[in-house]
Amino acid sequence: MSKHPLILRAGALALAGALLALSWTWFPLCYRDSLPAAAPASLPAGPFVALTFDDGPRSTTTTTLLDGLSQRGVHATFFVIGENVQGNEELLIRMEREGHQIGLHTFHHKSLALVGGADFYAEVDQLRETLKSLLDQESYMLRPPYGMITPANRARAGAPIILWSVDPEDWSDQDTPRQVSVILDNTQDGSIILLHDIYPSSVDTALQVVDALMAQGYKFVTVEELFAVRGVTPENGKEYRKLPPG
Ligand code: NI
Repeated sequence: MSKHPLILRAGALALAGALLALSWTWFPLCYRDSLPAAAPASLPAGPFVALTFDDGPRSTTTTTLLDGLSQRGVHATFFVIGENVQGNEELLIRMEREGHQIGLHTFHHKSLALVGGADFYAEVDQLRETLKSLLDQESYMLRPPYGMITPANRARAGAPIILWSVDPEDWSDQDTPRQVSVILDNTQDGSIILLHDIYPSSVDTALQVVDALMAQGYKFVTVEELFAVRGVTPENGKEYRKLPPG
């Protein structure tokens, strides 16, 4: 063979080296710009909204909901009841695999305005341990049943307390058109929407709301992602109802 292949090989090596050097300097800069903890000026533009579902999982309705969210590429947050996790472990694993966030809603749907001490630990910490043994997710946010919690229990929570800013009271009727209209009338950038994935009508509501708000330019995120895009660090024991742009 002539010496040309050698020259070509040397040229290719030099080119590869130059590309490597270029990517070495370019990649970290680019990556730093995308970090949510950066200066407010670089936070991503919304509008963002978080869909949250309480009281499940329930195999029929939650499965339909997960199918619909998956088709739309949307992530949500599920505040689950311990009793309902039992027998539905595969659903929880599916939620995590598909990018949803899972949170605590007590083991037996007990009001955290009424229980304290040992009962609190049984309701909240026992559920957290159950979820940790099942999932890879490390930390779990808390939604107290009925949205009520005593200051003493807030201090015991060991988790941020996630309430909501948009509530169509979907448990009170099976009226999807009414629920959709309440949600669309009240949602703003940073809203946290409350629904329950145990009613077929609520699943219909959720998917119609996703389609309508995505058409308006909304991006659906988990609660954890909503904190990140706002550059807010969630604090244990603190209550959050929404995360509007700063
Ligand atoms: Ni509930």
